Amino acid sequence: MKQILLSTISLDHQSRDPLHRQLFLQLRDAILQGALLAGTRLPSTRLMATDLGVSRNTVLNAFDQLMAEGYLVSRAGSGTFISDQIPDELLSKMGEGRTASPLNRDFPLSYQAQDLKKSSDTKPYHNGPFSPGLPELDQFPFGDWARLLARHWRHPKREYLTGNPIGGSLELRKALSTYLAQTRAVKSDPEQILILSGSQQALHLVVKAFANPGDPILMEDPGYPGIRNTIIGAGAKPIPVPVDAEGFSLEAAKALHLPARLACLAPSHQYPLGPTMSLARRLDLLNWAKEENRFLLEDDYDSEYRYAGRPLSSLQGLDTDQRVLYVGSMSKVMFSGLRVGYLVVPPDLVDMFLALRRDMDGHSPITVEPALADFISGGYLSGHIRKMRILYEQRQKTLLRLLQEMCGGYLEVAEQEAGMHLVAFIRNPKVKDIAVEALCRQDGLLLRALSKFYHGGNAQNGLIIGFAGTSEKQMPALVRRLAQHLKTVQDAS
Ligand SMILES: Cc1ncc(COP(=O)(O)O)c(C=O)c1O
Repeated sequence: MKQILLSTISLDHQSRDPLHRQLFLQLRDAILQGALLAGTRLPSTRLMATDLGVSRNTVLNAFDQLMAEGYLVSRAGSGTFISDQIPDELLSKMGEGRTASPLNRDFPLSYQAQDLKKSSDTKPYHNGPFSPGLPELDQFPFGDWARLLARHWRHPKREYLTGNPIGGSLELRKALSTYLAQTRAVKSDPEQILILSGSQQALHLVVKAFANPGDPILMEDPGYPGIRNTIIGAGAKPIPVPVDAEGFSLEAAKALHLPARLACLAPSHQYPLGPTMSLARRLDLLNWAKEENRFLLEDDYDSEYRYAGRPLSSLQGLDTDQRVLYVGSMSKVMFSGLRVGYLVVPPDLVDMFLALRRDMDGHSPITVEPALADFISGGYLSGHIRKMRILYEQRQKTLLRLLQEMCGGYLEVAEQEAGMHLVAFIRNPKVKDIAVEALCRQDGLLLRALSKFYHGGNAQNGLIIGFAGTSEKQMPALVRRLAQHLKTVQDAS
C-alpha cells in the first residue's frame, strides 16, 4: 500500500498550488482510477507526512477534504479507509472519454441541426493580422476599465448577488438609451432595451419571435453568416436578397413576392460589401414594412467608425410605426470577449421578448454590467471610439496604399467610408479567393474570401481584409506576404 501510494503521489514544492490541494487531487484521482481500491486502509497521517516530506497538517488538510467529499471514511479506532460508496460510474471512467473519439453512428438530429452541421465551422475563432472584425486591443483603456469593475465589486451591492433583471441591469439600459439617442438617433426608453450575450443572441431572439419552421426570412446577399445560421437554426429559410450600391435591394425583395415577415439588414454599413443605405431607400423600406406588415432587423454592428460622408440616423430612429428591431454590439467598440450586445424592441413587444429571453438563459450575468454603465455614461466609451476612429482611418489609408502598390496587379480595391475592413476584388477570375484565403491562413494572415458570404449565386471573387486591429508598422511585411500568396495561386491556376 505504502509503495503504491508513494509511487502515485508526486508533490511540487515550487508550485503555486498549495501542497494539501495537490495531495487531495492526486489521491482523489488515484481512487477514481482504481489505483487505490475501495476498502483499502491508508497509512496514518503522521507516517504519510514523513514519507512525502510534508507537514502533518498538509496531510490532515487533504484527508479532511477527501472525507468531506466522501472519498475516505474514518473508522473509530482502526484508521482511515477508502470509501466503498463511490458511485460506480465515476470509478475508473474518469480520464476515459474526455477526448471524444469519433463515433460512426447516425444521429436522430432535427433538420435544422443537420443543416447547421453541414454549414458550420466550429473551430475556435482565431483573430490575427487582417481579421475583418478585430479592433485594436492594446490601446483599450484597461486601467479605467479595471477601476470601474473594482468600484462595483470590492463591496458589491446586495442585488448584484441575487440576480439581474431579465433585460439586464437598469443602469446599463439607461446609459445605453442615452448613448444610442445621442450617437445613432435611436429612440428608446431603457425598458425597451435587452442586454444580451453579443448581438448573436439578439439575432436568435428576433428570428425566434418572427419565424415559424419553414418560413422565409429575407437577408442580404452577400450577408453576415451569423444571421444565416440563426435563421437555419430556427428551422426557417434564409432568402438571399441582392445588395446594390445602397445595400439591401428593396426592389429585388419586392420582386420575390414572398410572405416574409422579417428582413435582416445592416443599412449603416452593409456587411461585408460596405455600402450605406440612402435616406430615400430607408424611408421606402419603412413604408414597405408598414404597408405590408413586415418587420426589419437592423444590425448596427460597427457604424461608430465612419470616415467620410454624413452619418445617417439609424433606421430605428426614422421609424414612426415601431417596425424595427435594432441590434448593437460592444464587440467592435470594446472587445469581443466581453460578449455584450443589445436589442432595442418596440414597446408592445417588450414583454414577449423578455419572456423569450427568460426561457433561453434567464438573464445576462451581472458581472460587467454596472461597470459598463459607468464606462458609457462617464464618457470613456465615446473617448475610446474617437481615438480609434482616427487610428483606423489612418490604418485604412496605409493599407489601401500598400495594397495598391504591392498587389495592384491582382486586386482592385477602393476606400471604404466606414467600418474596419477593405473589400478587394480579384482581377483574374482564375485566382479563386478561397484558394488565396487558405494559403493566407496557413501563413497566419486571417483575411476572408468574399465568395463565402454569398448564398444566392453570382458570388464575387474577392478578399475581405481587416485593418483596424493591424498596426501600420506590421502592414508592409504582411502585404508583401499577401502579394506572394496571390502570385502562388495565380501561377498554379
Ligand atoms: C455583421 C455583424 N454583425 C454583428 C457582429 C457582432 O457579433 P457579436 O456581438 O455577436 O460579437 C459582427 C461581428 O463580427 C458582424 O460582422
